[in-house]
Amino acid sequence: MNIPWWRDAVVYEIYVRSFADASGDGVGDLPGVRERLPYLRDLGVDAIWLTPFYPSPMADGGYDVADYRGVDPLFGTLADFEALVTDAHGLGLRVLVDIVPNHSSSEHAWFQAALRGDGRDRYVFRDRPNNWQSTFGGPAWTQVEDGQYYLHLFAPGQPDFNWRNPEVHAEFLDVLRFWLDRGVDGFRIDVAMGLYKAEGLPDVGDQSFTTSSPVWGQPEVHGVYRDWRRLLDAYPGERMAVGEVWTDSLEDLARYVRPDELHQSFNFAWLEAPWSPTAFRKVIDDTLSTVPFATWVLSNHDVVRHRTRYETADPGTGLARARAALLTMLALPGSAYLYQGEELGLPEVTDLPAEARQDPVFFQSEGKLPGRDGCRVPIPWTVDPPSHGFSPGGVEPWLPQPATFAELSVDKQEGDSDSTLEFYRRALAIRRDLLRRIPYTVEWLDSPEGVLFFTRGPLICAINCGTHAVPLPGHDSVLLASGPLRRGMLPPDTAVWLERGSQTG
Ligand code: NOJ
Repeated sequence: MNIPWWRDAVVYEIYVRSFADASGDGVGDLPGVRERLPYLRDLGVDAIWLTPFYPSPMADGGYDVADYRGVDPLFGTLADFEALVTDAHGLGLRVLVDIVPNHSSSEHAWFQAALRGDGRDRYVFRDRPNNWQSTFGGPAWTQVEDGQYYLHLFAPGQPDFNWRNPEVHAEFLDVLRFWLDRGVDGFRIDVAMGLYKAEGLPDVGDQSFTTSSPVWGQPEVHGVYRDWRRLLDAYPGERMAVGEVWTDSLEDLARYVRPDELHQSFNFAWLEAPWSPTAFRKVIDDTLSTVPFATWVLSNHDVVRHRTRYETADPGTGLARARAALLTMLALPGSAYLYQGEELGLPEVTDLPAEARQDPVFFQSEGKLPGRDGCRVPIPWTVDPPSHGFSPGGVEPWLPQPATFAELSVDKQEGDSDSTLEFYRRALAIRRDLLRRIPYTVEWLDSPEGVLFFTRGPLICAINCGTHAVPLPGHDSVLLASGPLRRGMLPPDTAVWLERGSQTG
């Protein structure tokens, strides 16, 4: 059977603004990413996903795209992008780019024309707003000079497209072709369940991601992905698409992952699960029985970093649980999405000063919500201030890094076998080797309370979510543990990979 590369791939999310700055302006860029590709090859990931680097006024960190076929000067040039793709492929890394089809920037030529009264039907204009709210806070409608209102489910600088207009559909097929022709291996689709809104835009009582919502997940959206799939399939080299799909059930999620639609969809159920064996087991069972191609994710650029989520729920456990959850996730069938900096054990930066913050969530909630800047603080590459190697010279990065980042920097962790970085490298190397000989299934073994044991052929994964150390299940060798084992016992907040025999069953 031909197994497509993406089925078990480990994909590393690069939030471009915060990964590495080569130009020396304090903001990460494409040449910065290119310089660090060998680091990612050595980490052992299969692919990178680049967050938007297109021309943008940055009302939402680039998720407000003014031109879908270019590169913002802040991030480099199209030639820089092409060089990055060539180098990545040379190192055996695939490249996914972010596509933002639900909305453009208000600076996009189409929206500027719409404001002048030309082509308003490409967006959602109405004489009167309904009661929908922006996901970032406040009304989802902004009035323009002649009295009409336009819909924006996110910031006012992100007007929603009208996907009922075939021009929008044709435009995005062309945008996909533009990047496919430049060698990208696939797309991460922003707000993939958005796009269509219910006819008539009825008021809502509840705007969450329910199946019956008039705001999200309209059935027409599946037609878009069927067309996109045909386009991807027409290109050589297994091009793929992964959707950012928020739904209230895995059944709903599975509707996007079909042989003639998206290849994958993010599975936020794993990220949202509390530290509990019952919750973990349920998410694993439900996912594997519902979604044909599973994905797993613990952190991304929109959520509090998982080390800090665990730490907040149970102080003193954050890093240990983060490492144990990662080891468990990497043992599961399917692909794993990592977020830059988690391999360093970076925590959320919770004390950014208000004047440094840039996320529209902070502003639209009038400072009531901190927003997402805390997980977007630039990566520390070295111990040296002022930017810990993020920017060249003495440049300050666009968000201030806390002093604690020095100890967590790549330089500090490299070669230290106890470090989180070396732990990730070992886990990814072992996983790569294991994948050749383990089945795409999970079998549960009996386990003590608070603990999960599962096998995939010769691999046994054990995670202790309880409060006492437990004996390890029978095995021949220990492959890797997320923390120290104590005399054959698995301590709390620890996971381990064990190997038994060589039978696959
Ligand atoms: C999801 C992206 O991940 C997030 O960063 C962005 O703010 C919204 N979509 C709107 O584009």
